[in-house]
Amino acid sequence: MTDRLGPYLLGPNDENQGIYTGDARELARAIPDENVGLCIADPPYFRVADEVWDRQWKDIDEYANWCLEWGQEVARGLAANGSCFVFGDEKNIAYVQTKLDTLAWGLLNSIVWVKTNYTMLKASPEAMRSFRPQAEERILFYGRDISFPSFSEVRNPKAAQPMAQYLRSERKRAKVPMREVAALFPSKTGNPTGCISNWELGYNFPLPDQYAAIREYLNSHGQNGTKYLRREYEDLRRPFFGGRYTDVWEGPLISASHKEHSCHKPEWIIRRMILTTTRPGDIILEPFAGSGEVCKQARLLGRRWLAFEIDPDTAEQARERVRNTQPPLFVMEPEQGTELVSIDTGPMP
Ligand SMILES: C[S@@+](CC[C@H](N)C(=O)[O-])C[C@H]1O[C@@H](n2cnc3c(N)ncnc32)[C@H](O)[C@@H]1O
Repeated sequence: MTDRLGPYLLGPNDENQGIYTGDARELARAIPDENVGLCIADPPYFRVADEVWDRQWKDIDEYANWCLEWGQEVARGLAANGSCFVFGDEKNIAYVQTKLDTLAWGLLNSIVWVKTNYTMLKASPEAMRSFRPQAEERILFYGRDISFPSFSEVRNPKAAQPMAQYLRSERKRAKVPMREVAALFPSKTGNPTGCISNWELGYNFPLPDQYAAIREYLNSHGQNGTKYLRREYEDLRRPFFGGRYTDVWEGPLISASHKEHSCHKPEWIIRRMILTTTRPGDIILEPFAGSGEVCKQARLLGRRWLAFEIDPDTAEQARERVRNTQPPLFVMEPEQGTELVSIDTGPMP
């Protein structure tokens, strides 16, 4: 794949360092379909941060519809095996979720980030009598390819399962009946198993050698000279490392004195998102760059990055930060299914 992305280049191959100034809704239109491996979106929260950019909308519905606008472009640009994390405030996130759930992906988790260094000093004793202080933040976690339909997927028939759809359409293109493919995978008694129909429905996933066997069969029994299942197995399967993590992530905020942006997200959480869902060389999108922490960590971890930021000064500071980041000579990668014990992805459960 070249480093061109529509009219853009990916960092660090041009002077923008992959960080473009402008409105995420407009810029994201330049992303080709199914191109981005991971999106980490930390949009304005809607009247939470004491910033002008957090108070642009007249009400929560207008804000949620604005999220739908950039969400549509992100979902379209996400690779078949891509993932997306969306940070949000506990009171507003439900409105955003109802919009994002309608897009061509499925909700995997609504993660709760428990802020372990939250200080009770923030809440006055008077306030404590009427509500519980907020010591957490929400993160919606979406996946394009889901092996098992989630609740949201059942409600959303558009949710894609690239492997299932691809297997079905390729077998039909080859004009090979399902029973012939099923015969490749007999049970102990010699009867064909129902695995192919499960794979084509997306209830579960073939193994690499099963995928290769179907490819070989379609190539030898399909239309003469036509090649089938040309897409690589790994491009149809979400990387999903770090089986030890649940949907509760515990770890600290960046202290006020170390923040480079009012909403600067900590390194450990960004590294965990990148290392558990992508492979080296994947493109990582950060539609609301702020400090550019995602781009910085992408560079350190041998991924490519693309970011948008509406404020020119903030965008320039993020570029400067990324420019000054030296990638290490070696990046340790987890094996599929490993527990990331030797990888620095922040506090373990
Ligand atoms: C919550 S902050 C992101 C902080 C970032 N995750 C970090 O770790 O520093 C949201 C950012 O989105 C930017 N922003 C607001 N509206 C935008 C838009 N329409 N397009 C792109 N960026 C926007 C703001 O200027 C702000 O820097």
